[in-house]
Amino acid sequence: MQASALAHPNIALVKYWGKRNAAKNLPAVGSLSVTLDTLHTRMTVEFRADGEDSLVVNGAEAPGMMDRVARCLDQVVGLGRLPAAVTSEGNFPIGAGLASSASAFAALVIAANTAADCGHDRLALARLAGAASGSAARSLYGGLVELDACGEQIDLVQIAGANDWPLRVVVAITDDKAKPVGSGEGMIRSAKTSPFYMSWCVRQEEDLAAAREAVASRNFALLGEVAERNCLKMHSVMWSSRPPLVYWNTATIACMETVHALRADGHAVFFTIDAGPQVKVVCLPESVPMVVEVIKETPGVQTTIVTGIGDGARVVAS
Ligand code: PMV
Repeated sequence: MQASALAHPNIALVKYWGKRNAAKNLPAVGSLSVTLDTLHTRMTVEFRADGEDSLVVNGAEAPGMMDRVARCLDQVVGLGRLPAAVTSEGNFPIGAGLASSASAFAALVIAANTAADCGHDRLALARLAGAASGSAARSLYGGLVELDACGEQIDLVQIAGANDWPLRVVVAITDDKAKPVGSGEGMIRSAKTSPFYMSWCVRQEEDLAAAREAVASRNFALLGEVAERNCLKMHSVMWSSRPPLVYWNTATIACMETVHALRADGHAVFFTIDAGPQVKVVCLPESVPMVVEVIKETPGVQTTIVTGIGDGARVVAS
């Protein structure tokens, strides 16, 4: 009745922002992501005959997150399940725009499914993880992943494996504190108040089609063009929400300028930014040392993390 699983976070190059059905947590738009390899969350779930649900995150009790975790366990195992002792360990900051909820819920559904011997397949588990955190569904798969939000349920497909295109992501940490407004709350605010929300949803398929084509033809420049455009559109929706959702700081903008300057010098590099102030700089392996050096010198950057493309969530030894 115990199992451990490990999952990596993922970052979207074509982003999810908005919910079609808040109760079922169905995304309003499709998305396309890369799973990262260096960062991870490892979850252990043990179902016990007595006691209460408990959650320990990085060595400390975390009662504030228990409800969300318990709801996810109810969905994987069923409402009559035994109490669970859940332990989570991660190697990167939580709630700071680094997709910690994606790796956490992806690892949680895999660990719970194995511990309680539920027999769900990967797509079913991705849907269950997605009900807890929309982006978590993508971390069930490795490589480059497309999430289709058109049907009654989400669908996912791996469009390139972890070793098919050797992309690298240099993550610039500019502030590792938890963000002031969580993405779920932010999305609901944007849908209600941003004058650009409808056109963001309607135009998403154009970006998905271009990104799909870029991946199929391994066209880095096209992928970068689509990813930056899509990221800035999402942040325009955030900024134009009331009250505004501004996740950037001055270092975030400085990093964007650094990336533009590198590109003007002929380097293959682009950025993307999620609901937080960190900047993810995508490049090819040979550019990593140069990108790290230049990003580290950018004012306000605290540290950098280099990642490659990772595999999907999986069971590991307890
Ligand atoms: O899965 P959530 O609820 O944490 O939302 C993720 C939202 C973004 O990271 C901003 C975009 C994305 O597609 O991952």
